[in-house]
Amino acid sequence: MIQKTKEQFVELFGKEPLIVVSPGRINLIGEHTDYNDGFVLPAAIDKKIVYAIALNGTNQCNAFAEFNQEKASFSLDAVVPTPGWINYLMGVVATLQQRGYSVAGFDCVVAGDIPVGAGLSSSAAVEGGLVAALDKLFGYGLSRMEMALIGQQAEHTFPGVMCGIMDQFANLHGKKDQVIRLDCRSLDYEYFPFAFPGYKVVLCNSMVHHSLASSEYNVRRQQCESGVKAIQRLHPEVKSLRDASKSMLEEVKEELPAKVYDRCLYVIDEISRVQTATGLLQQGKLNEFGKLMYETHEGLSKLYEVSCPELDFLVSLASEREEVAGARVMGGGFGGCTINLVEADKVEDYTSFIRSRYQERYKKDPEIYVTTIENGVTVL
Ligand code: GLA
Repeated sequence: MIQKTKEQFVELFGKEPLIVVSPGRINLIGEHTDYNDGFVLPAAIDKKIVYAIALNGTNQCNAFAEFNQEKASFSLDAVVPTPGWINYLMGVVATLQQRGYSVAGFDCVVAGDIPVGAGLSSSAAVEGGLVAALDKLFGYGLSRMEMALIGQQAEHTFPGVMCGIMDQFANLHGKKDQVIRLDCRSLDYEYFPFAFPGYKVVLCNSMVHHSLASSEYNVRRQQCESGVKAIQRLHPEVKSLRDASKSMLEEVKEELPAKVYDRCLYVIDEISRVQTATGLLQQGKLNEFGKLMYETHEGLSKLYEVSCPELDFLVSLASEREEVAGARVMGGGFGGCTINLVEADKVEDYTSFIRSRYQERYKKDPEIYVTTIENGVTVL
């Protein structure tokens, strides 16, 4: 893919490009906890976006997207939100400009194999790859964390998704065969090996693209914030759901809309679940870890309501199978993938079982990706 992207660039723009590889991510556990100051456990994967990019000596940015064979351009004088995929690139450029980094015109080809809207963070990969490319081309000297924060700000201000930091962080900090435990409050993080050679991480794409994903995501975030406000009246020291306990939530239950209560309950449980889960992983107790993944799914489905019948079906199929340690919906939800930890030598049996049952029930084929854990954004 790298070679093809490079060739396409040379053909379109007639010069040698810089190449940047920018991965998607998985998250083992800790969903919808990042914007609540909790913990997450992501890793970068082998699905990626590839940029071929070079400066063009003008005031114009020209991009070609391989996935839809579409060209788009924008002038650096007026970088404002615009419908379509170019918005993600514009968000990065505008954020850099806003932070005082000067950007000059560039040409690029963007290619990739991260399925869009599947919960694998194709948008963070587009953002992180471009920040790293521009950092290299203009010599800003940004740290990886600064790059992640720039990507996040771009996502907030251009597509308008009020995401947490997990996706951009994992995209830029991934390390081969390591998962990362990130404290989303302090931004401290720790790597540890995902050392289970007998298991594979299998992603089952429901092929459901929920059109409400971004608006409902922002609603979830607001619901968490309104829960915090109520708790704060009794416990002013509580700054986010990270600081809240279940008993604090019970104290304000009567005054909260039922949905807000449910959302907060899920998040408080999930933040503590990640702590337990990390310990289990470190002790090599993958089956116990997997049970917590099922608990997360239950919470995401019933309390946080970001699942859908197709995802619930995929997880219930997983739970019937002995070769699966755990499974759950992954990422923002409302469609996309489930993550499954599957015994390596049974992966084929498992995927054909999933394919046939899903096809029988929903008359469509799920895509299934057996992933590996890889490095974060790499500037070649
Ligand atoms: C999306 C967001 C992340 C995170 C997840 C849910 O991927 O971009 O910040 O909130 O949803 O865990």
